[in-house]
Amino acid sequence: MSATVYLETFGCQMNVADSERADVRLRAAGFDLTSSPETADVVIFNTCSVRERAAHKVFTRIGEVRRRRIGSEPIVGVMGCVAQLEGASIFDGSPSVSVVAGTRATDRLPQLISRALDGERRVIDLDERAAGEAWDLPATARTSKYVAFVPIIEGCNKFCTYCIVPYSRGREKSREPSDIIAEIHELHRHGHHEIHLIGQNVNSYRPKTESGLERTKGATPFCRLLRAVAATGMERIKFTTSFPRDFHRDIVAAIDEHENLCEWIHLPAQSGSDRVLRAMRRGHTASDYLKRIDAVRSARRKLSITSDIIVGFPGETTADFRETLRLIEEVGGYDGLYIFKYSERPNTPAASLMDDVTLEEKSARFMELETTQRSFQRKIYERYVGREVRVLVEGTSSKFPSDMTGHSTCHKVVNFRGTELMLGKVVNVRISVAKRNSLYGEVISAP
Ligand code: 5AD
Ligand code: SF4
Repeated sequence: MSATVYLETFGCQMNVADSERADVRLRAAGFDLTSSPETADVVIFNTCSVRERAAHKVFTRIGEVRRRRIGSEPIVGVMGCVAQLEGASIFDGSPSVSVVAGTRATDRLPQLISRALDGERRVIDLDERAAGEAWDLPATARTSKYVAFVPIIEGCNKFCTYCIVPYSRGREKSREPSDIIAEIHELHRHGHHEIHLIGQNVNSYRPKTESGLERTKGATPFCRLLRAVAATGMERIKFTTSFPRDFHRDIVAAIDEHENLCEWIHLPAQSGSDRVLRAMRRGHTASDYLKRIDAVRSARRKLSITSDIIVGFPGETTADFRETLRLIEEVGGYDGLYIFKYSERPNTPAASLMDDVTLEEKSARFMELETTQRSFQRKIYERYVGREVRVLVEGTSSKFPSDMTGHSTCHKVVNFRGTELMLGKVVNVRISVAKRNSLYGEVISAP
C-alpha cells in the first residue's frame, strides 16, 4: 500500500501555490493525499515566517497533531519559509521532525519523504530549484475550482529592512511569459473564471525571454504581461502584490484598456512617515505614494485600493505615527487595510535597531489606525448599496447555509441568497446591505 500524506499550509498565496505543486508531485510519485492528520503516514507543514507568531505556529501544530494521533507516530516534515531559514536546527528543537525542505525543494519532496520512510532520520534540502523545473500545474490540481493562483515571480530583491522574504525565498526569479500564458489558457479551458497573478513584487517581473509578449514602447515587462494575459480571454484577472516604487501609470493604462483586468490594486504603504520609510528602505516617500494613488484614482473605472501598514517599527515616534494616520486620511481610507505590529525577524537589517516601541504602544497605535480605517471603510462600503456588482460564486457562506459567497471584481466579499447550482458561475448582485467587511445583496441575473 502506498503511503498517505497530509499537507497543511500556512501563510501567503505563494505558499498555497507551492502546496498545490507539492500535491501534484506527490501524487505523480504514487503517494495518496489525505485530509486526516490523525492517520496519515506523513504529515507535512508548509510554513510562514513573515512574523514571529506565524513562525511559531508550526511548532504548536506539530504538538497538537502528535497528541491527537490514532495510529503510530507519523513522519513529520517542515517545508517552506521556516524550513529554509532554520534549516537543521529544526531537528534539534523538534526531534519528531525528520524532513526539512526549503522553499525551492518542492519538486524533490517525494524523494525526501521516501528517504525518511526508508528510515533516514534527518533528511534536509535547502537547495535551489533544479534547472529546467517546470512551474506549471494542471488546472485540476488547484485548491479552488474557481479561482487559481498563478505565480509569475518568485523571491524578492527589495530587502525592506524589516522583511524576511528575501532570505526565505531568495532572489527574484521570473517565469517565462509563454509558460504563464499557456497555463492561463489551460485554466480557461478548464472553466476557471478568475486568476490571480502572484508574486512578492509583481511589478519587477523580468523574464529572460519575452516570447509571447508584445514589444510595446515604454511599457514595463509586467505591463506587457498584463496585456498578454488579458488577451487570453480569461474573464477576471487580478494581481498582487504591487510595490509602490515600481508601480507605474502604464499599469492603470492597461486596466483602462482591458475590461477583464479587475478593479483592485493592493499597494502596501507600510508607513506614512518619510523618516520611517527611509529606515524601512522602501524607496518611496509618502508623497511618492500619494502620486501612485492619484494615478490609480485617474483610472476610467473606479479601482479598489487595499494596503498593508506596519505600526511600531523601531524608532517610530508618536509624530511618525500621526503621519501614517495622515496618509490614510489623504488616501481617503482604503477598501481594506491589513495592519501589523512590527515583529523583529532574525538577521534582517532592522533586527539590529533598538525596538524601542513598547508592546502597549504598538497595540494602541494598531487600534487607533484600525478605528480610523474602519470609519472610512464603512463609508466606502455604504456607497455600494443600491449598486450592482459582478460576483464569482465560490462557496456556501460559513454562517448561513442558505447563502452563497464570492468576490466582486473589486475584490469585496459578497454574500447573497442562492444555491450550490450557482457555484463557479458569475452572477450580478444588487447590494442591499453594507457589513463591516462584506456586502450583502440579491442576485438579479443568474446564468
Ligand atoms: N513585522 C510586521 N509586519 C511585517 N510584514 C512583513 N514583515 C513584517 C515584520 N517583520 C508585513 C508587511 C507586508 C505584509 C505581507 O507583512 O506589511 O506587506
Ligand atoms: Fe518584503 Fe519588501 Fe520584498 Fe515585500 S518588497 S517581500 S516587504 S522585502
